[in-house]
Amino acid sequence: MTPPVAERATAPEILARCRALVRPALGRAVRQLHPWHAEITAFSLGWDGPDGRAIPGAQGKGIRQALAVLGAEAVGAKAESAVRGAVAVELIHTFSLLHDDIMDGDETRRKRATAWKAYGTGPAVLAGDSLFALAVQTLADAPGARCVPAVRLLAGTLNDLVRGQADDLLFETRPWTGPDAVQPHEYRLMAEHKTGSLLGCAAGLGAVLGGAGRTETDALTAAGRHLGVAFQAMDDVLGIWGDPDVTGKPVHSDLRRQKKTYPVLTALAAGDRAALELGALLRTGEPLDDGAVRRAAGLVEEAGGRSATVAEAHRHLESARACLESVALAPDAVGELLALLPFFVERTV
Ligand code: IPE
Ligand code: MG
Ligand code: MG
Repeated sequence: MTPPVAERATAPEILARCRALVRPALGRAVRQLHPWHAEITAFSLGWDGPDGRAIPGAQGKGIRQALAVLGAEAVGAKAESAVRGAVAVELIHTFSLLHDDIMDGDETRRKRATAWKAYGTGPAVLAGDSLFALAVQTLADAPGARCVPAVRLLAGTLNDLVRGQADDLLFETRPWTGPDAVQPHEYRLMAEHKTGSLLGCAAGLGAVLGGAGRTETDALTAAGRHLGVAFQAMDDVLGIWGDPDVTGKPVHSDLRRQKKTYPVLTALAAGDRAALELGALLRTGEPLDDGAVRRAAGLVEEAGGRSATVAEAHRHLESARACLESVALAPDAVGELLALLPFFVERTV
């Protein structure tokens, strides 16, 4: 029988349970790296050494590893069967952030210097490469018939992820307004690739390693991809309006760098007075000073970009819910997956 809602674990409890389950295996994986890369990885993960304790505020949220664990439980398998998959997605996530911070020129993440700022660009690139390789090896070592579909899912994910990152970078060179301006639907596809792919992979790997068939695996993968787009939409909200003391990133960081994010693109598409003023401000291509960045953030909000982005995130959460309800899955695990949904739109970090 499904327990009443009040007895269900909360999102922080679910994330903590999954983190505790995966952490020892992640530590063992990191210790296999070259010591230099192990040190850079431990720094990136917010540990005080490859074996060390967590540094408060410097850790990730652990959403991807939780999706892998819950994906396995959703198909009736033991949480332990997903640990290898959870480790692989955490390694890929860390690799992607190491390289992303270089591409984006970001100097802080999770309240600390980014790895390339702390260790140099070459070492950060190489540490990312080593994590990529270790993730593939982790899945390639999976026993029996589950290894090939797991590696195949990861390979497809990596193709999507780099495709999304490529479009994200190319969008920076496109104009803000006019016929070549980036359209919201182009952004959605980019977000599904750069972020949705890995969250989908996490849930799907849990299913694959739990021995599920195609139908359940595809439904969990699709749910995870929707969660990823919701996550990215809220990441864009936090990238403009997030509290730097909480996010650990500079205030208005995405606007300062003139990133083509969903709030800005939907604000410009509104076509009202605020949108026109925003377009004029951004089109100059000049770096924006503090006052201009504040003005731009106000105009994005006035033109409805912030509320449209939150609404977009909610739509994807509902799509994720529909995917989870489209197939027969273990009710308790689905309950925990659903308990995570509000976290995607309410998070402040
Ligand atoms: C990061 O995207 C996505 C990947 C690393 C694949 P962003 O550049 O938008 O994310 P943050 O804001 O740096 O975390
Ligand atoms: Mg970035
Ligand atoms: Mg980026």
